Amino acid sequence: MIKNFLIGFGLLCVVAVGLLGTRGEKHAAPPIEFFSDMKRQSKVKYQKPSDFFADGRASRPPVDGTIPMGYDIPGHPFQNSGAPNDILSPLGEYTAGTDYYNTGKMGENWGTGMPEQIPVTPALLKRGQEVFTINCAVCHGATGQGNGITSKYGLLSIANYHQDKYRQMADGQIFNTMTHGYNTMMAYGDKVTVKDRWAIIAYIRALQRSQNASINDVPEEQRAALEAQK
Ligand code: HEC
Repeated sequence: MIKNFLIGFGLLCVVAVGLLGTRGEKHAAPPIEFFSDMKRQSKVKYQKPSDFFADGRASRPPVDGTIPMGYDIPGHPFQNSGAPNDILSPLGEYTAGTDYYNTGKMGENWGTGMPEQIPVTPALLKRGQEVFTINCAVCHGATGQGNGITSKYGLLSIANYHQDKYRQMADGQIFNTMTHGYNTMMAYGDKVTVKDRWAIIAYIRALQRSQNASINDVPEEQRAALEAQK
């Protein structure tokens, strides 16, 4: 019994030293790969030829009409004047300043209300809906109840905008949450322009109003029609 064990152990030592003993030594021959070490991959490198595409190039040119982020759409009626954070720019820009418009803060405190550069118009709300749907609805849900698709896949405690806490939260604090993120929510300051962040806030406020409205919020001339629907 002991003899078998000793023979087995001896053989194991020989194999182990045979396989591992030469590690660290220099060899001219390429190393033996038990698994492919990802040195060769079936991918093409930029600026290299490839016979996969008809033009023989591996790099693909940008799609026609592609606009680099931060640039204006040529020929758009609102051309950017070049001033930082020009409100007329169709795309808006990223945080560039310490004023309320750029930070959501008035001095040391969160400010509230739309900054003077942002008139609340139907177009602003429409834009807010669009960017909210693209960036926020996956988690916060289309109506802001915190029941977006990610909540079905285990993301916990997504803020429900219809709680009092968020109804009363200053616009500036929501702006800051979007810019820098909050706990498990990542930052959107590098993805959503300043102007679009304010548009989203206007839209969140509209969502909150929509879930907490009374008959007095309906213009008088339309109330009769609503009553008739009941
Ligand atoms: C990947 C999921 C996800 C996305 C996308 C997302 N959020 Fe959130 N958000 C969260 C979670 C989770 C919380 C709760 C964080 C906490 O309270 O710890 C939260 C919290 C918040 C809060 C409350 C923060 C506070 O101070 O309590 C606001 C406001 C908010 N999100 C706005 C937005 C806006 C606006 C967008 C789109 C630009 C957005 N979120 C996109 C997951 C997300």
